[in-house]
Amino acid sequence: MAAIAIAFLLVLVAAAAAAAAMASAASIGTGPRPFFVFGDSLVDSGNNNYLLTTARADSPPYGLDYPTHRATGRFSNGLNVPDIISEHLGSPPVLPYLSPHLDGPTLLTGANFASAGVGILNDTGIQFANIIRMPKQLRYFQQYQTRLTRSLAGDAAAARRLVRSALVLITLGGNDFVNNYYLVPFSARSRQFSLPDYVRYLIAEYRKILRQLYDLGARRVLVTGSGPIGCAPAELATRSANGECDIELQRAAALYNPQLVAMTRELNAGYGADVFVAVNAYRMHMDFISAPAAYGFLTSKVACCGQGPYNGVGLCTALSSVCPDRSLYAFWDNFHPTERANRIIVSQFMVGSPEYMHPLNLSTILAVDAAAAMP
Ligand SMILES: *[C@@H]1O[C@H](CO)[C@@H](O)[C@H](O)[C@H]1NC(C)=O
Ligand SMILES: *[C@@H]1O[C@H](CO)[C@@H](O)[C@H](O)[C@H]1NC(C)=O
Repeated sequence: MAAIAIAFLLVLVAAAAAAAAMASAASIGTGPRPFFVFGDSLVDSGNNNYLLTTARADSPPYGLDYPTHRATGRFSNGLNVPDIISEHLGSPPVLPYLSPHLDGPTLLTGANFASAGVGILNDTGIQFANIIRMPKQLRYFQQYQTRLTRSLAGDAAAARRLVRSALVLITLGGNDFVNNYYLVPFSARSRQFSLPDYVRYLIAEYRKILRQLYDLGARRVLVTGSGPIGCAPAELATRSANGECDIELQRAAALYNPQLVAMTRELNAGYGADVFVAVNAYRMHMDFISAPAAYGFLTSKVACCGQGPYNGVGLCTALSSVCPDRSLYAFWDNFHPTERANRIIVSQFMVGSPEYMHPLNLSTILAVDAAAAMP
């Protein structure tokens, strides 16, 4: 008797679990806007934790100021740019695609496909071995949509609507310079291309990636340009003689960024809609790099965590020196901003002028898209 009751109870529990795992198509559009993230370490929220690679941030002191105070794979002391955008969307941080927790109803909130070390080109970051290069991030996006459809009881139209309604962020390009063209003197790419020709090649390849994103259903895509890569503590320590931003890397970013804006404009003209929004990460960073005190920073040259000149040599590890007050530093490690710098950057995403956000800023996007979604 007792055995039968327990067996019956187990059936009930299993049925309830199946119902909970099955997301409901009716709930689409009522929750926070779904969010998809693609790109490199600036936006990776932990995919590389699941891979055999040296490009990882899953041990202390990374995550020192994260809500859990744990290293999650984010390349920061606390929140990264996607996390802060999620705050503005009113949703929790988007889970890495490789996380086992991304399943059932959590699929509805989006996914983060980014992987530290990747670039626009397949040969960027080869020294990091197993990372999710762009062709694979896009394949995973496709696979995600199959899983989403399954969790919506096979309603492919509802899955497509969800993807089209999403906000998308893609951050790429920095590694194609620092971890490819300029990685070593006389790198293969620098022998193959002059800098202007390399930049044109990158833009042509990036255009293909953005077109594939569109073909996979993306309709609002924030595309960040290259930051001032010559000003990273890593470059101040290794390339620059006087603590000034490295001229060659700054020249690379200055060549690349306007062509990226022009390319997104062309794509938008072709699609007849403002699908791609160019984010001027260069200006957003330069504001506090050129006037750190105006933003409450003690320094924008010395990283909080690291060793050697500017704390810019090698990785941030448990053996590195760590600054006591992270809010006084623009850079957390030799390449990546602190949470406080990330917050300044995202505030420009929200309200920046067309020079920062072209053709429109994120608060305008959210307002316009919410109005368009009204029945
Ligand atoms: C990158 O790799 C993918 C296949 O993984 C290939 O289709 C694509 O053409 C490659 N891109 C370049 C620029 O070689
Ligand atoms: C950007 O956002 C602010 C604040 O929401 C808004 O007032 C401004 O008009 C926007 N600028 C552009 C160019 O969309």
